[in-house]
Amino acid sequence: MTPDAETRARLAALHRKGAASAPATVADFDWSRRPRPPAWMPRALYAAAVAHLHLGEAMTRRACEALAAGAADPLVGACLAVQARDEGHHAAIYGRYLALLGAAPGAAPAPVVAETLAAAIDPARPLATLLAYNTLLESEALGIQAGFETWLPCPLFRAINGRIARDEARHVAFGRLVLPPAVAALDPAARRDLYHWLRGLWWSCAEAVLDGYRFPGMASGRIRRRWLDSRWARRHRALAAVGLAVEGANP
Ligand SMILES: [Fe+2]
Ligand SMILES: [Fe+2]
Repeated sequence: MTPDAETRARLAALHRKGAASAPATVADFDWSRRPRPPAWMPRALYAAAVAHLHLGEAMTRRACEALAAGAADPLVGACLAVQARDEGHHAAIYGRYLALLGAAPGAAPAPVVAETLAAAIDPARPLATLLAYNTLLESEALGIQAGFETWLPCPLFRAINGRIARDEARHVAFGRLVLPPAVAALDPAARRDLYHWLRGLWWSCAEAVLDGYRFPGMASGRIRRRWLDSRWARRHRALAAVGLAVEGANP
């Protein structure tokens, strides 16, 4: 990924902004406020959702560190290093919230998700890694956070997500600068392979999560399939937004 001159100028501005801004940290929140899981939702399921956000942040940090270390372009590497700094703090914040929730049995992330995220970090394939993390996972995490905002209004969690979202906006802006030209430079076959690889990652994780936890109202196969299709449609749109729209692919 070698950005052109105009993209480089915008990346440099984004890097200056990121390096100068203070990321969300554990110290930003009043931890005397207890988490308030909703009465209608099994506590283990609530904790599992937070545990997946925590895992996502920790793994994104690892991905950014790996990509920054191997970046061909020092400016891209510098942006990724700033993001790694942010994600490390985000992981610590979710970790603290998770600890306050208590160790609910069955709240650990699904092993398939942890394994898939680890396997998706490949510094030899920086574009694939970035699409998996910056586009697919970031979009999924924002969706989970938005769901929490709407359905699970814990005031402490709302404060955490609101603050973290400010950092995430910079990460999203980075992806929007570097990904579309890199995706556009691929030939159609490589684009199709990448799309189907990402699709496979997402579906294996989503099905493992549905299999591993008891979601209220998800007993029927038809409801489950509709839920998976609608969530994938959002991830498909996120990939399409960076140019990874594959003709004939079923969103
Ligand atoms: Fe984050
Ligand atoms: Fe992020």
